[in-house]
Amino acid sequence: MILLNGEVGNYIISNGKKYSYFAGNNYLGLASHPQVKEAVIRAVQKYGVNFAASRHTTGTSDLHLELESALASFKGKDDAVVFASGYQGNSILLEILKGRYSTVFIDQSAHASIIAAIPTGAVRVMFYDHCDAGHLDYLLDYNRGSSPLVITDGIFALTGEIAPLNQIYEVVRKHSAILVVDDAHATGVLGETGKGTPEHFNLPEDANIHQTETMSKALGGYGGFISGSLSVTEMIREGSATYQASTALPPPIAAAGIASLAILRENPDLRTRLLDNAWRIRDAVTGMEFQTTHFRTPIVPIILDSPEKAQGLSLFLEENGVIAPFMNYPVRKAMHQIRIAVSASHTDDQISQLLELLKQWKDKNESN
Ligand SMILES: Cc1ncc(COP(=O)(O)O)c(C=O)c1O
Repeated sequence: MILLNGEVGNYIISNGKKYSYFAGNNYLGLASHPQVKEAVIRAVQKYGVNFAASRHTTGTSDLHLELESALASFKGKDDAVVFASGYQGNSILLEILKGRYSTVFIDQSAHASIIAAIPTGAVRVMFYDHCDAGHLDYLLDYNRGSSPLVITDGIFALTGEIAPLNQIYEVVRKHSAILVVDDAHATGVLGETGKGTPEHFNLPEDANIHQTETMSKALGGYGGFISGSLSVTEMIREGSATYQASTALPPPIAAAGIASLAILRENPDLRTRLLDNAWRIRDAVTGMEFQTTHFRTPIVPIILDSPEKAQGLSLFLEENGVIAPFMNYPVRKAMHQIRIAVSASHTDDQISQLLELLKQWKDKNESN
């Protein structure tokens, strides 16, 4: 376990030593951005740390409302609701849509928060092959007559793959299904303005597409959100037990969200730099004949044939001053990989150092 003794940026301090940091999901470097930190400090001074109350009782501040309005404007939706964590988003959405679906179709490699969100008992659950819209179509055909809901990650957390949402959307429309996209890793990253996977694929506005999103990754803060029509947000506020019975996002964290969203919207070049950095790494890793995935996203996996090898590579990097962790995560446990997480704040020199070390390890451990 990496012990952090300070903030996360493109470098970290761990046990008194400085490391080049290719971990976490601070894609745009906003977690320690001076403007975000200042906004948090001001909010702590005014509001304290926490209201110790749910949004539904006495936990809503003007900051929460301002953040929701900023998120709705960013997403081009009527409204948005923020809540305590991104992980809760899938549960909240599946909770309020209950009664409108009877079978849930899930990507086989879906995130743990998606699996946890399936209401027990009342619905049937079917897993379709990973990113395979054809198999999804087959399963939907086979289960004709049910009211289907399809749920997938937008960008997959471990592999950086983008779900083929254009194909999935066609299948969803054919079967009049509801589509839910967990865009935790795509918000602020994909799409012309950073709105996520539906924007990346230029999907039309459609009341049957829902996104669950988080401010804890590209936005560098914390907390989940769902945007949509007033009827969706009202159902959350009035009908979700998860929303009503959990403590509100702490106000300083709401302030962080407002500040980072403003930075994101004013600096589209951050996203370009992020994706260029990620592509430089992915391209080089592919050239070195490591097994990886081929998407323009900030998660670059290096997949190895044993856990020992993956751990060995991560340790080699760490001994040479670079953190890129071996992933032991409750999704796709059978895959042995390190995950390189790229940020817009990584410098060319940092990337060169990482690539040089990867090449050294490869030459020593996998040359024929
Ligand atoms: C796909 C996906 N969904 C949801 C979450 C949960 O988001 P948060 O960490 O903001 O609660 C994560 C984060 O780890 C994730 O990778």
